[in-house]
Amino acid sequence: MSFTVAIDGPAASGKGTISRAVAERFGFAHLDTGLLYRAVGARVLLGIAPITAAQELKAEDLDADDLRSPEVAQSASRVAAIPEVRQALLDFQQAFSRRLGGAVLDGRDIGTVICPEAEVKLFVTASDEVRAARRHAELTGKGLDITLGQVLADLRERDARDAGRVDAPMMVAEDAIKIDTSEMDIDTAVETACAEVAKLR
Ligand code: DC
Repeated sequence: MSFTVAIDGPAASGKGTISRAVAERFGFAHLDTGLLYRAVGARVLLGIAPITAAQELKAEDLDADDLRSPEVAQSASRVAAIPEVRQALLDFQQAFSRRLGGAVLDGRDIGTVICPEAEVKLFVTASDEVRAARRHAELTGKGLDITLGQVLADLRERDARDAGRVDAPMMVAEDAIKIDTSEMDIDTAVETACAEVAKLR
């Protein structure tokens, strides 16, 4: 039987960590859909046209270096506003969501567009400042030279674009459960999410 957990939210809200933990706890497969857009965004930075990059995306593109860089994140957010790019990635995501044994997908439009019938929908948020601090620690930990102010401006720019686009904007699905992780450590956030999944599992 398929069982889908849709986890949406803005950048650095904690949704990635929560999604991986939920998948591991319940034995579900996990798809980080942001990685698909990042892989397209990275190809565009190499000079490939966005729609072609999305239509010709291959599994090995998801292993490219630097997919986690701020430049690739911005490029991903820009290509994600193109309807044909989103369309090209739709079937793969929907097929993944119906895998036997259960699936967790995280992104921006999973509960609203990709899997409106998902059994569990979570929307993970945190304040801008908390998210920027987390992402800043992650990036400087990897040796990147970037200020907290730059990271905050970057996140806000991306959130505004992701929430403001016409096609599949980031938004809270009507039936989603909101989890604000601003004041939570990661263990608490994971337990809160797992408790919601367990109620419906
Ligand atoms: O989750 P992320 O930060 O890795 O995503 C990178 C960008 O990809 C994000 O700014 C917007 C886009 N994205 C999207 O439009 N829809 C998704 N389901 C996932 C990501």
